[in-house]
Amino acid sequence: MRSVKNIVILASGKGSNLQAIIDAVETGSLDANIAAVISDKRDSGALERAAKHSIPTFVLIRNQSNRDTYFNLLYERLREIDPDLIVLAGFMKIMPAWLVEKFPLKVINLHPSLLPCFGGPGFYGHKVHEKVIESGAKITGCTVHFVTPDVDSGPIVLQKALEIRDNDDAVSLAERLSPLEHSLIVDAVNFVLTGKFQIDGNRVIRKTL
Ligand code: GRF
Repeated sequence: MRSVKNIVILASGKGSNLQAIIDAVETGSLDANIAAVISDKRDSGALERAAKHSIPTFVLIRNQSNRDTYFNLLYERLREIDPDLIVLAGFMKIMPAWLVEKFPLKVINLHPSLLPCFGGPGFYGHKVHEKVIESGAKITGCTVHFVTPDVDSGPIVLQKALEIRDNDDAVSLAERLSPLEHSLIVDAVNFVLTGKFQIDGNRVIRKTL
């Protein structure tokens, strides 16, 4: 039986959340091994960060020739690695239902709003913050949830809230939210890896014993 849990991180962007996880592992505040980083962009900051820390990387790009088989390739890769947890940290592809169902309660996603508000298809990156500001909401935040076939709708693991200022725009909101996301994702990985929770409907209930 493995003692240290293996996690795989899927990231498309600059990888600041990946970096938060790397830092937490290296400083001992997260007891996990980052088995691999998978990116769908060849020039992502996430890949550079992983390489700097000697973490195995894989690039899987969706193109004309693998349009139908793309997620089969991703599945094969994940199956080979056999992680305890798959973390979507700014991964810009929506996993099909069949793939999500291969890893029940083993995939979590970081989303830059307080779900169930401002989520679902089309709500990604700065678009989320633009919609939040347009709505007139006074509070936003970030969410880590289990991935289920319905986009951004799975049981919520943890959230953090942030007050919106009158002079905020999508850029400033994203900037101010970023450190909250970094601590949230680390806390969520830590929590999920303990396995000390149960799912009741769409609720994640902490086991107290
Ligand atoms: C984060 O804002 C996250 O909420 C969203 O994508 C962004 C990724 O940022 N899903 P980074 O690449 O980790 O810096």
